[in-house]
Amino acid sequence: MNYSYYLKNILFAYNKKKVLQIRELFLPKETSLGIFGPNGSGKSTFLKLLAFLLFPEQGEIFFFGERARDVCSLRKEVTLLEQTPYLLKRSVFENIAYPLQVRKEKNIEARVLEAMELVALEPKKFGQRKWFELSGGEAQRVALASRIVCKPRVLLLDEPTSNLDGENTFLIRRALTSLQEKEKMTIVVVSHDWDWLSAFSSQIYKFPLEIK
Ligand SMILES: Nc1ncnc2c1ncn2[C@@H]1O[C@H](COP(=O)(O)OP(=O)(O)OP(=O)(O)O)[C@@H](O)[C@H]1O
Ligand SMILES: [Mg+2]
Repeated sequence: MNYSYYLKNILFAYNKKKVLQIRELFLPKETSLGIFGPNGSGKSTFLKLLAFLLFPEQGEIFFFGERARDVCSLRKEVTLLEQTPYLLKRSVFENIAYPLQVRKEKNIEARVLEAMELVALEPKKFGQRKWFELSGGEAQRVALASRIVCKPRVLLLDEPTSNLDGENTFLIRRALTSLQEKEKMTIVVVSHDWDWLSAFSSQIYKFPLEIK
């Protein structure tokens, strides 16, 4: 088994409007994958299927060789950073620590500091900042840190660099690349920035998918 997901005969529709139809698709594992395509082509919907937040009307999804059934345990292995992520109305440190606290994990402080370092947020400077004391790029990096702190097996990111400048865009790519290499994560990124995606991904899927 050298894939993370295997999608078979998938049909997904919102109120009878067909959005995704996929006969067979294997996504490789432990690599960086890109998704590119026009507005409304089903990219976010696709990520939500991979995150087990939406379910296809027809078809099956296999996750690392297993038929996806127990959604609660699967959701612990997959993390989605949504297109418009939101922060808790708390400090930067508390935002990043929160997922670890919920899971009653250990070494919370060290792990938060590690995640902050990965996304280039200096703990002394940013740790105690409130959610409203951040630029858009900093807020996006806090949101990313709060998703990677649990080191999920699969990380899904929906346009993580939209509205960010060159420097923040670079910092996010550097963090993701380092995470993928160190942790052997499978990372899937939706982006409208072809150059960014090409630099990041080992493979790019163009939407709407032509696998029908
Ligand atoms: N909750 C919903 N209910 C009904 N229709 C929806 C819903 N979410 C999305 N759609 C429709 O499904 C289609 C695919 O939407 P989706 O958000 O997956 O596209 P996208 O490729 O992510 O677009 P964008 O680049 O604008 O983010 C669109 O036509 C959209 O209007
Ligand atoms: Mg979208």
